Amino acid sequence: MKTLILAALLAFSCVRLSVQAQTRVHPLPRIVESDGRYALIVDGAPYLMLGAQSNNSSDWPATLPKVWPAIEYLHANTLETPIYWEQFEPKPGQYDYSQVDAILAQARQHHVHLVLLWFGTWKNGSQHYMPEWMKTQPDRYAHVTNKTGELVDSPSPFASASREADARTFSAFMQHLKTADPERTVLLVQVENETGTWGSLRDYSPGANQLFEAPVPAEVLKAMNRESGNPSANWQEVFGPGEADVYFHAWAVAKYVQQVAAAGKAVYPLPLYVNAALRDPFKGAPGSYESGGPTDNVLNIWKAEAPAIDILAPDIYTPDTTAYLKILDLYHRSDNPLFIPETSGTPTGARFLFPALGLQAIGYSPFGLDYTRSHRAPEGDKTPPETFLEPTAQNYRLIGPMMRDIALLNYQGKLQAVAEVEGEPTETLHFGAWDAVISYGGTQRGGALKGNPEPTGRALVAQLNDHQFLVTGFDCRVDFRPAGTEEQRKSGPIVNGTGQTPSAQIGGKWQHRQFLRVEEGSYEDGVFKFARILNGDQTDWGLNFSSEPEVLRVSLATY
Ligand code: DGJ
Repeated sequence: MKTLILAALLAFSCVRLSVQAQTRVHPLPRIVESDGRYALIVDGAPYLMLGAQSNNSSDWPATLPKVWPAIEYLHANTLETPIYWEQFEPKPGQYDYSQVDAILAQARQHHVHLVLLWFGTWKNGSQHYMPEWMKTQPDRYAHVTNKTGELVDSPSPFASASREADARTFSAFMQHLKTADPERTVLLVQVENETGTWGSLRDYSPGANQLFEAPVPAEVLKAMNRESGNPSANWQEVFGPGEADVYFHAWAVAKYVQQVAAAGKAVYPLPLYVNAALRDPFKGAPGSYESGGPTDNVLNIWKAEAPAIDILAPDIYTPDTTAYLKILDLYHRSDNPLFIPETSGTPTGARFLFPALGLQAIGYSPFGLDYTRSHRAPEGDKTPPETFLEPTAQNYRLIGPMMRDIALLNYQGKLQAVAEVEGEPTETLHFGAWDAVISYGGTQRGGALKGNPEPTGRALVAQLNDHQFLVTGFDCRVDFRPAGTEEQRKSGPIVNGTGQTPSAQIGGKWQHRQFLRVEEGSYEDGVFKFARILNGDQTDWGLNFSSEPEVLRVSLATY
């Protein structure tokens, strides 16, 4: 009998323990900074979001079965998915938590984190996700008025009733997350979606015009480096026509979003971000892009006016390599972690994950990667449905198992990563005593470098210690050379005339690279699992990476 009681007690305490373990409160995800580098800390360590964003109308019980198999195929660790204001608050002040609860429960079942997108006042510059009870009262929940006095399909940032309603509802949503998500399944929340206005540079309603004629607020002058001018000058006087309108609109939208974000953060301080519909980074004149959102020309205004927002994040859809890399650069700032919440996962587009990692991106997430889009396939289309997922899946199969290591190495400033640029078949990365030379489109045994037929090459190199590197990539070759002069760096891999060995003349003497050990393996739960040593044909012409995932740990010396 005694034994039975003991066994029962033991069983009871085990059940209690496991219930406690299941509901253990995890630490809040947070963003940390060191020397201008950022990391997203999840469960105490840097985390890299390898994400996928579902289509806009996919976060419904009816469609989620078409989302999870895609996430699984991709090996994504994070799903970005919307929460719809119209669903969440069907009647004023009445909240429906069912959709939030369903996505939380299903994400946990699939062992995937979430980024929730608050489709509130703005969605792609419009107010289409406002609940019906708001849409039917356009006088109260006002639209932008354009220059000719017409109403535009965009919410006015001066509509105080909309702002108050959004702030109240967003904080109710965050309050619910706080109680429903002790596991911290949700890592980040996006406030609104692609804020701003298409079809008008700003709101030209009488109230807005009055503010436009008033002196530019001191914090805007400071943010835009115009403090030395006349402090009572109005927008047009300070910034000139066109620019004045878009800066004014950005100021108004950022202030509105700040109030919504701050209300939510006050109840549950998760990291928050806004996403931007971009302008052309080289010739984005006012009128050619969505005005008011965090485009590259108004990042300072957004930073000054919306401190509750942790990240200003670019949605990058351009296929143009130079423009893509420029945008990464513009949003990688010492006051802004780089995060790409939307991008395209095309076969060549997928390579841009690498330069994003090279700028310490904390996350990356191609858009529209779920099986609901299969309905768009033309009649009789025989393309396997996975085709559109494959380029991203290829990346995530490689990076997924070592995402914690990559996030840490990045936070420590030890990692560089690049993508192939058309017409530039070689590139050199500098690491102290070593240069890593990346090349594209050579043959297995050297040969002229032509670049790949399509620019799919990408490489990642991280310094593990002075003479040891983690190396991986696709469709490229990586070799190492003792760091030589600037002149030598420009000319690509140097061979000293006697063989294929990359060498450099240092202090008047030739130094030649030798591979001490090239280990092929894989990362499993953050541990490098050795599989074999590569040598002979596999290393004599450098380290060749194909389209198969391959991870190398390389130890170097000179002779
Ligand atoms: C950008 C938006 O932010 C997304 O919600 C979606 O509408 C895509 N554009 C569609 O391409």
